[in-house]
Amino acid sequence: MILILLGAPGAGKGTQAQRLQASHGLIQLSTGDMLRAAVAAGTEIGLQAKSVMERGELVSDDIMTRIISERLDQPDCEKGVILDGFPRTEAQADALDSMLSDKKMALNAVIEMKTDDGVLVERVTGRYTCAKCGAGYHDSFLKPAKEGVCDKCGGGEFSRRSDDTAETVKSRLQTYHNQTAPLLPYYKDKGILKQVDGMAEIDEVTRQIEALLS
Ligand code: AP5
Ligand code: MG
Ligand code: ZN
Repeated sequence: MILILLGAPGAGKGTQAQRLQASHGLIQLSTGDMLRAAVAAGTEIGLQAKSVMERGELVSDDIMTRIISERLDQPDCEKGVILDGFPRTEAQADALDSMLSDKKMALNAVIEMKTDDGVLVERVTGRYTCAKCGAGYHDSFLKPAKEGVCDKCGGGEFSRRSDDTAETVKSRLQTYHNQTAPLLPYYKDKGILKQVDGMAEIDEVTRQIEALLS
């Protein structure tokens, strides 16, 4: 199964992808996480991506397409994947179509997580993740059961993204509307676009996605 989660910054792509990974054994392919790993490792791609990400703009289509194509060739992806953050432009969507056909894979569904921009700044600026296992949390909407302790791994260190400032989020939202939202009619025309209410509570969004998949 190959799924795309499509939605604005803070729509809940990563949150739901982690759940689908746990419940369906799919592999979450988050291009944002891959780029952050490249920045942390100081690779050539990371050096190029850092300032682009901090401005809330997009890394080049060539780089992103290459990263995803190479990742899809790894054996764990045979179990099925959730694309979280890719494609983000029409050029990336075209490239994905041709790489999947070359690899004899097919796209099963594109799930749009519909949200209003108003809630997204609070979601993004309140977000943090466990530094050890990557589990995601939120200051108001998703706290660990015991304050300061990760539910999943017991770790006590957390980190925040450098692009999660109110100012950068506004620029990321603009980028989404200009460059990524045009993919919605692209996938609607192919008859594979589905929608969930990204404004609902996290568990309810999960239920809506599960209902689409069953
Ligand atoms: P990326 O990491 O993909 O960031 P993004 O698209 O801006 O999305 P986010 O990760 O911010 O949000 P999310 O939808 O995953 O929300 P989450 O589940 O965390 O990309 C970062 C950058 O990398 C880009 O700006 C770009 O520069 C570059 N990049 C990446 N891919 C690229 C590509 N293909 N091409 C070019 N450049 C690329 O939820 C947010 C918070 O809200 C969490 O705290 C969560 O707990 C909470 N929350 C989630 N759902 C709900 C809910 N239903 N109700 C209440 N709270 C909720
Ligand atoms: Mg994310
Ligand atoms: Zn953890």
